[in-house]
Amino acid sequence: MARILKKEQWSDTIFSMLIEAKDVAKASKAGQFIILIPKEHGERVPLTIADSSKDEGWVQIVFQVVGKSTLELSRMNEGDELYSFVGPLGMPSEVEKFSGKVIMIGGGIGIAPIHPIAKTLKDLGNHVVSIIGARTADLLIMEDKMKEASTELIVATDDGSKGKKGFVNMVLEELLATEADNVDRIWAIGPPIMMKACTESAKKFNKPIIVSLNPIMVDGTGMCGACRVTVGGKTKFACVDGPEFDGALVDFDELMARQRQYKEQEQKALELYKA
Ligand code: FES
Repeated sequence: MARILKKEQWSDTIFSMLIEAKDVAKASKAGQFIILIPKEHGERVPLTIADSSKDEGWVQIVFQVVGKSTLELSRMNEGDELYSFVGPLGMPSEVEKFSGKVIMIGGGIGIAPIHPIAKTLKDLGNHVVSIIGARTADLLIMEDKMKEASTELIVATDDGSKGKKGFVNMVLEELLATEADNVDRIWAIGPPIMMKACTESAKKFNKPIIVSLNPIMVDGTGMCGACRVTVGGKTKFACVDGPEFDGALVDFDELMARQRQYKEQEQKALELYKA
């Protein structure tokens, strides 16, 4: 049950794991997430599914070590069993065959959750243009998988160490300046500041954009309230009403302020765990 079949370290802080989870793999749809607890008495960690195989019965998770629980998870090894692995959760992405192009944007660790959506859209016959970006070339993940899942792939890094130099929203804006008429839908997943910038670019060209608010979840059950977000003036919970929302309706400023609220407690928990 929920055994770690394969573990890879992709950078100082980014890890990929294939988890044996036949039922989750069978039922999962693009855009959904899982909640795991690394060890007994541990905290719940919600993570979007990066890939899955129904035939082989595994689910891939990709995570960055940001606090106590992700550090604990990163220290587990192939063959170890997770205390709990529940899913798939959340509403699946609303995918269909669009007549125009779709643009998929993954920033940093957000490339992992954008992957299954891109793959599903391509399988449906869409022309998928993906823009993936990271701070530096070393932090760029899943380039080969994204190439497979896309019709065209554009890479960008903040420092220009790979692909175009600049942020993914700058690449999006360049693309929309020439191609907007051919674009039907945009998806963007990454840090909230990136999703906000992409949403502003999409709005300029009057293009619909979907964002995934997985990064703001804590318990993933609708109970902790940490993922509360205002969408179109209404209160929503990213974990039960999302994780995907119409970017143009999301109050990103409120969302980013809420994320900062927990920084101090998270830091304390991490220091205690390391001690
Ligand atoms: Fe706690 Fe959604 S993550 S309520």
